[in-house]
Amino acid sequence: MFNISKIKNDFPIFKYHRQLTYLDSAAMSLKPKVVIEAEDNYYKKYSANIHRGIYRLSEKATEEYENVRRKIAQFINADSEKEIVFVRNTTEAINLVAYALGRVNLEKGDEIVTTIMEHHSNFVPWQALSNEVGAIFKVIDITDDGYLNLDAYKPKTQNPKSKITTKNLNFLESIITKKTKILALTYVSNVLGTINPVKEIIETAKKINPRIITVVDGAQAIPHYKIHVKDLGCDFLAFSGQKMLGPTGAGVLWGRKELLTQMSPFLFGGEMISEVYLNRTIFAQIPHKFEAGTPHIAGVIGLGAAVDYLTQLGLDKVRDHEKDLTAYALLKLAELKDVTIYGPKEIDRRAGVVTFNLKGVHPHDVAAVLDEENVCLRSGHHCAMPLHERLGIDASVRASFYLYNSKEDVDKLINGLLKVKKIFK
Ligand SMILES: Cc1ncc(COP(=O)(O)O)c(C=O)c1O
Repeated sequence: MFNISKIKNDFPIFKYHRQLTYLDSAAMSLKPKVVIEAEDNYYKKYSANIHRGIYRLSEKATEEYENVRRKIAQFINADSEKEIVFVRNTTEAINLVAYALGRVNLEKGDEIVTTIMEHHSNFVPWQALSNEVGAIFKVIDITDDGYLNLDAYKPKTQNPKSKITTKNLNFLESIITKKTKILALTYVSNVLGTINPVKEIIETAKKINPRIITVVDGAQAIPHYKIHVKDLGCDFLAFSGQKMLGPTGAGVLWGRKELLTQMSPFLFGGEMISEVYLNRTIFAQIPHKFEAGTPHIAGVIGLGAAVDYLTQLGLDKVRDHEKDLTAYALLKLAELKDVTIYGPKEIDRRAGVVTFNLKGVHPHDVAAVLDEENVCLRSGHHCAMPLHERLGIDASVRASFYLYNSKEDVDKLINGLLKVKKIFK
């Protein structure tokens, strides 16, 4: 079990806001001191540009930056650090694939498959690409209880003996065809909290069409679970440092070496070249050919410290802690009258994201009242408008948990909601 007060001590924000109950980690995690110090150290002690200077300060900065690349490769069990491309965030990582691979390889009549539970970051780039090249944009629906609608797919917790097999994913065969070039799906829904059986879906998709390219949005998964890309079987994985205790503006695209090597650059300019002549340019090798211009050096170095922090704490423990909190929150919310909770009920198939609505009260009003109680909640469509439309609502309230949250935070949420009910009833 976590020692929450010890963990909270690692996060300076709690010294400035002693009463803070932060329940918006799905939007952005708080930052531990070690991450802030790593960034600070870079600026104070060796703030030179990377990959260019042959003086010691620049070499030190390059070494620290490249060490993080190795660290991330290890963290997600990639084959090589050459497969790690530093970007600003998940959004940029997905756009990179859509531009550099999608635009070149897709033509009229091809298909792109995604799901209704995607964040706009893994929806709009594919929709835009489909419109541009004349591809068919297919969207996998959800069941009423918040799972991807994959025919006979049943959560493991309902029947421990049932395995998610290709047989359970028959429905995919009516969606994915030989013309499907891209399958883009999220590991965890940022609204429903659903943990998708991504490995099994990819396995099935590749059986139907071995040439399909699979892109996994790992933004809500990487901060909370151990994910091994080789085991997952995907071709690309995108995630943001800012949701995993790291600084803003430093994210990651992992891609299979063969694919990254074949792809053309996304942005052109300095850093991404090997040789430039008047009429032609030879691009750098991967991953540098995708990292044009000066990157967010301090941010990447801070991200390295975040990975160390998470590794030391143990992602399995993080997941267990969040499972406890989520189960407790679901229980307590269900005890309140007039609350609609969205997403799966099975705790094993659900992440630490609890989205709900209070009957007759606008989500923004809920969040505003809770703010008065020092509880930070997200309200709105959470960058998932198609999903909200599917749920038949315009907006919702979302509480999301991370390693610094405790059951007392859930209690504060519930007490705040009781206050909302009093005000608005
Ligand atoms: C599932 C998911 N994908 C993508 C994103 C976008 O992340 P970023 O804004 O860091 O690009 C988010 C952010 O909330 C998310 O929850």
